[in-house]
Amino acid sequence: MYRNNTNFKEYIVNSRLNYFKPNSKVEKNSFADEISEGLNQNSKFIQPKFFYDSIGSRLFEKICSLPEYYPTRTEISILKKLQSDLPNFLDGDFRLIELGSGSSTKTRLILDILSKNQSKLEYFPIDISEILTESSELLLKDYPKLKITGIIDTYEGGLEFLKDYDSKNNLIIFLGSSYGNFSPDDGLDFLIKINSMMKSNDLFLIGLDLVKDKSILESAYNDSQNITAEFNLNVLNRINNELDANFVLENFRHYSIYNDQKQRIEMYVESLLNQTVTIGKSSDQIYLKKNELIHTEFSHKFQIHQIENLLKQSGFNLIKIWLDDKQHYSLSLASKN
Ligand code: AVI
Repeated sequence: MYRNNTNFKEYIVNSRLNYFKPNSKVEKNSFADEISEGLNQNSKFIQPKFFYDSIGSRLFEKICSLPEYYPTRTEISILKKLQSDLPNFLDGDFRLIELGSGSSTKTRLILDILSKNQSKLEYFPIDISEILTESSELLLKDYPKLKITGIIDTYEGGLEFLKDYDSKNNLIIFLGSSYGNFSPDDGLDFLIKINSMMKSNDLFLIGLDLVKDKSILESAYNDSQNITAEFNLNVLNRINNELDANFVLENFRHYSIYNDQKQRIEMYVESLLNQTVTIGKSSDQIYLKKNELIHTEFSHKFQIHQIENLLKQSGFNLIKIWLDDKQHYSLSLASKN
């Protein structure tokens, strides 16, 4: 059992809720270092993981219910279809492991499926942020036979923690097309990592957004209420607040475009004038030309045959792909090869 793992400390909240946190992690790179590195390149970038401070996380939740942002509601509609379909693929009891603590609506739809046929329910969310604990309390109230073990760490750290944890079957879910935010190389490495921690009976369910009409994609990332713009520009606010920088937000604009060839939405903040920004914490002076772009996110879209290849290449055996009626979005179930 991994419970004695000396790299993680267990915190017991009550008999149905505990969580593990890495003991002492030497931070590989601080926020300041990573921002400084990205903004001192010829092609400047800020990594998308930095969107999610508390304001950014709230804005992302707003994005998920925007009329133009179809991925969330489409994925939910497919999860509803799975209520009758998924049990056919579950042989025995499964523990739910979620990469990202996810939206509670989606988690609940999977818990509903499991709870119908199981006397015990276990849910292990892996998330770097501690918001885990708040959403957990609500789940425990609504699912009396549920026990939650949160792992507050990076996905990689959480997967490492779960490797050889015990012999129970795991259903690992990675929803929301978050996979699309990885570069193709990092994404493949990540899938291989997931595969390597799986046992032969474990299952993996991944939600991926599909290639579609450019106008649908571009309006999903350029919504009419400008929430995506606010979400994108908020990362500059975060740098101002946490790293003592002086980005003037009015001097930047949100810019996002679909790249057909690379099959991805590319998101940037664009400098509207020649300007110099100072970041106090790292003593960086960043010079930006008028119309210069700072890259903030890729959101890759997939074709079915690419999903099949991707899963095969990373050691999975694809069991089934579910699509919505418009074929905008996919959920794929796979086992370890
Ligand atoms: C989290 N991720 C899957 C979202 C996406 O669609 O790529 C992030 C996002 N960026 C802008 N809108 C939503």
